[in-house]
Amino acid sequence: MSMPEIIALVGLSGGGKSTVARHLAARLGWRVCDTDGLVEQMAGRTIPAIFADEGEGAFRERETVALMAALTEPNTIVATGGGIVLRDRNRALLREKAFVVWLDAPTDVLIARLRAHDEERPLLAGDDPAARLETLRAQRAALYRDVAHVTIDTSEAAPEDVAERIVGAL
Ligand code: S3P
Repeated sequence: MSMPEIIALVGLSGGGKSTVARHLAARLGWRVCDTDGLVEQMAGRTIPAIFADEGEGAFRERETVALMAALTEPNTIVATGGGIVLRDRNRALLREKAFVVWLDAPTDVLIARLRAHDEERPLLAGDDPAARLETLRAQRAALYRDVAHVTIDTSEAAPEDVAERIVGAL
């Protein structure tokens, strides 16, 4: 691949997509587009409200629309929602338009980061978010592997170092 104009970050919640996206954008002088944020902006409501009122299917539909919009402008870091890889169409779009990086970490690290931020995630609601994340990992690992050009374990590195490794991999 020649020097890509779009970098997309994929992976489970807590993998560091939003944080690394900010560092990468600062490093390259690019903008960040976050599909969750775009879904909320386009819908005029929060993701938990969309899940509660419209269901996951409607959220996924909105997410694909947001992804297509996010992938239109060059010099963009796209931070995706964890379930973006579920649709074949989304994976094809990502592969076609972006250099795709899977940001992974062991589940306990993901959980610790999510606790620190305390944002509501409908798919992780309940008593045992670690078990939910394990289930999502089992369902999605092959999809992340399939879509990603490179995989980075973010558990041992600071976000700016992860960003630097991505720049090195371009
Ligand atoms: C989801 C992850 C969330 C958000 C939605 C669904 C998922 O994004 O898109 O709650 O299916 O894993 P983050 O990965 O930014 O938490």
